[in-house]
Amino acid sequence: MALISDDIYLAKEFLEDGELVAIPTETVYGLAANAFDEIAVKRIFEVKQRPDYNPLIVHIGKQEDVYNLVEKVPAKAKLLMEAFWPGPLTLVLPKKEIVPQVITGKHSTVGVRMPNHALTLNLLNNLDFPLAAPSANMFGKISPTNSDHVEEGLGDLIPMILEGGAAEKGIESTIVGFDGTDNPVLLRHGVISRLMIEKVTGEVTSYTINNEAPEAPGMLTSHYAPNTKCLLVDDLKSAIEAYPNKKIGVLSFRAPYEGDNVVINLVLSTSGDGAEAARNLYAHLHLLDHSNADLLLFEKLPELEISASINDKLKRATA
Ligand code: TXA
Ligand code: MG
Repeated sequence: MALISDDIYLAKEFLEDGELVAIPTETVYGLAANAFDEIAVKRIFEVKQRPDYNPLIVHIGKQEDVYNLVEKVPAKAKLLMEAFWPGPLTLVLPKKEIVPQVITGKHSTVGVRMPNHALTLNLLNNLDFPLAAPSANMFGKISPTNSDHVEEGLGDLIPMILEGGAAEKGIESTIVGFDGTDNPVLLRHGVISRLMIEKVTGEVTSYTINNEAPEAPGMLTSHYAPNTKCLLVDDLKSAIEAYPNKKIGVLSFRAPYEGDNVVINLVLSTSGDGAEAARNLYAHLHLLDHSNADLLLFEKLPELEISASINDKLKRATA
């Protein structure tokens, strides 16, 4: 069992000693270590059983801290920082020598973000180093949006979880890199939609996935997977009817669905609100995964601004 506490000074002590601490952010909980301590950072990979080519995001407490970590901030990256930091946007930029290669999977770039969570910002601004932190779940499993999720997945492997309540946004940050001409490239869908980014920078290109050498493994086809078999469907009613002999768990968008074979049905947002749906997504997936259902059916979301991101997560969960 990990100690679960909101004491940032205790968290600071563990981190200064090279230990790992799970930290709250507005997106999901992160598994943090001193970004300049290579041994501590290696331990993140061990604990998560994460492949070492999969780079980590570095979290900072102030916008100007980015200049300690990267060689160059293109003009459009600066506009994005000003528009969205602190917030759920990660920028991938050319790294400085000081950023250890273990963090970046030997890439010459580093992902940086300033999270929007008061407690974690307070912690970061009390430390002499930034925090490398991937999501605080075992590699490939559902991301944690509260301290119970972290305790369940990693509690026996880490000394402390900084208690910061349920994550306000509920899905991971959007990741943006830059091409050879410093124009933005969308590397991972997330809380901030493509449209919101394009309003700041003009056109954004999309990264096309190469499963062998993924630029951002958040884009791996199979990721965020529950243990139970699951399908993403357009028409829930006919899908439920197609599996009369299965115990079905349903994740629907606005309305619950009846059916003799439906053992649990969770709704993302009864009012049809995309932000609420995102906030509930992983917590609902955790519950469905723990139910006695032997098949999970996810209803595809209608076209809302955030739907591309949620549908993207659901698609990966079912891959
Ligand atoms: O919201 C979030 O981003 C959360 C919280 C904890 O900040 N973190 C998170 O980390 O989702 P993680 O490790 O689960 O996902 C990080 C993603 C990976 O897919 C990784 O490939 C990508 O960020 N990434 C990090 N550095 C990169 C780089 N230099 N180039 C390309 N992708 C990078
Ligand atoms: Mg993750």
